[in-house]
Amino acid sequence: MPKEFYITTAIDYTNSAPHIGHAYEKILADVIARYHRLKGEKVFFLTGVDQHGQKVQQSAAKEGVPPAEFVKGVTQKFVDLWEKLDVKYDEWAATTDERHKRVVQGMLQRLFDEKQIYKDKQAGHYSIRQEQFLTDRERGPDGEFGPEWGQVEFREEENYYFKLNDHKEWLLRYIDNRKDAVIPDFRQLELRNAVEKLSGDLCISRPKSRLDWGIELPFDKDFVTYVWFDALSNYISFAGYDPTIDNYEAQPKEFRDRWSKDTLQVIGKDILIPAHGIYWLIMLHSLGFPDDQIPQLLVHGWWNLGGAKMSKSAGNVVDPELLVEKYGAEALRYYLMNDIVVGGDADFSEERLVTRFNTDLANTLGNLVNRTLNMAHRYREGKVSQASLVEKNHRECQLLGLTEVHGFEEAFEGGAPKYPSLKPYSVDDAVHHIQAFCFHVNRFVDLEAPWKLAKESPESERLTAVLYTLAESVRVIAILISPVLPKAAHGIFDQLNWKMEPELSGKEERFHLDDAKWGGLPDGHVVGKPVPLFPRIEL
Ligand code: ME8
Ligand code: MG
Repeated sequence: MPKEFYITTAIDYTNSAPHIGHAYEKILADVIARYHRLKGEKVFFLTGVDQHGQKVQQSAAKEGVPPAEFVKGVTQKFVDLWEKLDVKYDEWAATTDERHKRVVQGMLQRLFDEKQIYKDKQAGHYSIRQEQFLTDRERGPDGEFGPEWGQVEFREEENYYFKLNDHKEWLLRYIDNRKDAVIPDFRQLELRNAVEKLSGDLCISRPKSRLDWGIELPFDKDFVTYVWFDALSNYISFAGYDPTIDNYEAQPKEFRDRWSKDTLQVIGKDILIPAHGIYWLIMLHSLGFPDDQIPQLLVHGWWNLGGAKMSKSAGNVVDPELLVEKYGAEALRYYLMNDIVVGGDADFSEERLVTRFNTDLANTLGNLVNRTLNMAHRYREGKVSQASLVEKNHRECQLLGLTEVHGFEEAFEGGAPKYPSLKPYSVDDAVHHIQAFCFHVNRFVDLEAPWKLAKESPESERLTAVLYTLAESVRVIAILISPVLPKAAHGIFDQLNWKMEPELSGKEERFHLDDAKWGGLPDGHVVGKPVPLFPRIEL
């Protein structure tokens, strides 16, 4: 068993500034990482940037700066954004890093020595935009290469090739043997179909005369390796992999503690086929990774705009930086986790972002915290007490049933047997369960009408029980929502005057999933005064 839960995302291209899709993927991974830490697990979360390649070289040339300088600037934008969005990673994978280069070269050398890489000549149509040779399969119904390929030219080139095709049967078997190789299911099916059609090997180099912004082949200094070994390899190079060792069991302990078949790689739907689902898995297999050390792929969908794909060329890219400035990290995190089904696509809407914030956070959760603390102060001078067993059980029962069905853990872990329909990592479902719980607690307040109780029998056990139940609900909600809204969760604990030790202040260690059950607040605990958590956004 690995000692750490290892989660990665795609590394983002540094040919342009971050967009909302990048932010979504990193937040999704961050929320899953935080959930695992909430369970008390040690987590290794790797994310970073893809800095080499033709597109970067071109963008740098356009600005008239060296590529190294160009990527430094863009990389900083990603780093700053993750900081602002509370995306908390353990290691930063930047592909120009010397450590990474050494691992890539070590991998290439080994595969070359093992004759899995060979030199060959190719002539044909080449798409500059997609950086690949095209075959007749890429031609449209009219026999032409469509606009998605950009400028297409004829090329003849010597290059190095990786024996991809040798591993096709292995990959089919691996996919057939592992039901959850890819989440969601329909993506696994898509992948299987694509693998069946696989033919030919993979070109892995570019002559330096065309591209020099890359990692030099260790066995031929006239070439750099291109995209696949350069980028995909980051997932192991930054986790402590030793490329000179072909036996997984003999890898450094640090690496084996992290890497496992449960390593979760979060990627977008556009880079499953062929990049991760085919090239990457075959690369691992050819490097000697046993089948039970092949990672799991979580494939998310895309954020579109007005039903159309966002693209820089179409000028309809949503800038996450502006949104954070305008609404704050929590509003954006909440919207992105709540308003898309993991695996599906969604349409981005600033109006929806504001509506969800105002409805779910300001009016529902914020209001619940506010009225809970206000009433505790108004009716019991802030003191919440565990009422007599009978009253306590009676009041709590009305909500207990709900916490049992909150489905929060199941949404992260996958549904069997109680919730067979829940897919693992359905973060949107987890958010909806918390939301539903908040809604029910608010209804509980309305039904119990503590203000009436306070008038009729101010010292009653029943009112005591209602107030305690509310404070407990709020405490549990703070824990459950903490992976998505870390700042708000701290805000709630602060206002509850709970876990106030200075060493826990602002730290994730303040929250434990085990504590998300009834009865945590001790008898006589004094809660703090309410401060608005989610001031309504007025447009
Ligand atoms: O693909 N909605 O980088 P990238 C959701 N460097 N996700 C989106 C999206 C959108 N509109 N647009 C992009 C690359 N993404 C390569 C990966 S990994 C070894 C090499 C996702 O900057 C996209 O699916 O184009 C991918 O997972 C990630 O953002 C980075 O995209
Ligand atoms: Mg891409």
